[in-house]
Amino acid sequence: MYYIGIDLGTSAAKLILMDETGKIENIVSREYPLEFPHPGWSQQNPEDWVKAVEEGVPELLKGFDAGKVAGIGAGGQMHGLVVLDEQDRVIRPAILWNDGRTSKEVDYLNQEIGMERLSAYTANIAFAGFTAPKLLWMRKNEPELFQRIAKIMLPKDYINYVLSGVHCTDVSDASGMLLFDVKNKCWSKEMLEICGVRESQMAKIFESYEKVGTILPEMAKKLGVPETTVIAAGAGDNAAAAVGTGTVGDGACNISLGTSGTIFISSDQFRVDAHNALHSFAHADGHYHLMGCMLSAASCNKWLMEDILKTTDFSGEQAAITEEMLGRNHVYFLPYLMGERSPINDTNARGTFVGMTMDTSRADLVQAVLEGVAFAIRDSLEVARSQGIVIERSNICGGGAKSPLWKQIMANVLNLKLDIVESEQGPGMGGAMLAMVADGTYGSVKEVCGRLVHIVDTIEPDPELVTRYEERYQKFRKIYPAMKGLFTELLQ
Ligand code: XUL
Repeated sequence: MYYIGIDLGTSAAKLILMDETGKIENIVSREYPLEFPHPGWSQQNPEDWVKAVEEGVPELLKGFDAGKVAGIGAGGQMHGLVVLDEQDRVIRPAILWNDGRTSKEVDYLNQEIGMERLSAYTANIAFAGFTAPKLLWMRKNEPELFQRIAKIMLPKDYINYVLSGVHCTDVSDASGMLLFDVKNKCWSKEMLEICGVRESQMAKIFESYEKVGTILPEMAKKLGVPETTVIAAGAGDNAAAAVGTGTVGDGACNISLGTSGTIFISSDQFRVDAHNALHSFAHADGHYHLMGCMLSAASCNKWLMEDILKTTDFSGEQAAITEEMLGRNHVYFLPYLMGERSPINDTNARGTFVGMTMDTSRADLVQAVLEGVAFAIRDSLEVARSQGIVIERSNICGGGAKSPLWKQIMANVLNLKLDIVESEQGPGMGGAMLAMVADGTYGSVKEVCGRLVHIVDTIEPDPELVTRYEERYQKFRKIYPAMKGLFTELLQ
């Protein structure tokens, strides 16, 4: 049988055709635009996602026996606010996970409602990208549109709705809305009231590996798949990527270097870090996870390469960074090009190079960006370590993980063994695997991971480099506190 995994990303939808043994038959990618209508705002048109899926799936299936498609599962960019009217029409562009317009609403939630109450209701505090502050923003700034909201959805849930006709969500993605009681896996009545919305406006909640329905006949026809195709609830992209790298069970860890950068720590038990610096979310395997999310990771490198240095030769640029240069760079980079989420929660923070001299080279700047991202992920890892969580190894995935140099820097900055899986296809692969559980081919997420995911290599940290990077990290962590006040002042 075939399964289609949809990775509904920020710049493109990546579609994967996979069989039940994990063999990848085909991959198709469809890009769509991202709007920045004001500095710090980030929006996308949900109809562009639908178009990408509607055009991409027939292309994906070209030359294959489409009659063998048994299920579809998506892993989607998290937190985006998609609002539908009574006729299920999209009311306004989706406000995305990396949108920073809600700093006032975040302050109101964290300071006036109070972090303690938020954490008691949802296991989390407010961050600008989360969905609840966006609803408050809409209520204040677009009251007429807010009145028209009949359904509140997340990006991949909108795709699932278009495919199945069911207003559904899954526990991992719902966790990032700040409207969901993560521990008890239900909508938080208190948070719905604070945001002025009713439970009837929310989607039905499923575990990520559950079937939400079968494909609508007209969609089956459009995509060229059988009417029996099962639609899985799917997961937020980080939980789906974790499934795709086999990151399930207690203490398993996954690092993703995509547009965002995340460190994902799977846990059998529900837990909340003492200061809510890490997100406490449900996992796609039926349990929980803690996660630190930085807003710009591989996107910092892409920005430097494409927008500033005007090159697409990423590996050529990295070739100039010799082994000897590792852990010795005098330039530091704060990777806060979109403000920052974990662990500093500061929409005013900005990207910054520090420490340049007349002999600073192009390669030093490239290296500083790769290292700055690694240091910022380390900030979240340190929060986990301060909670007594012991992590010795992690999987790694995402576009940035294609770079051997970046993986080496990550292993040494984090002092972690980094496991590389055989076929790293991130959220799309996880989505397809969730569909295999949804249609009963596998009995659990753990089982499908055990059968389909294989580790083929491990990058070991080198003690000498770990020491050099430790010294540099201790310097790096002083830069943001020194700049913090200035970032706010510069914006006034
Ligand atoms: C996670 C987050 C990002 C997006 C990227 O909290 O905001 O990783 O899911 O698509």
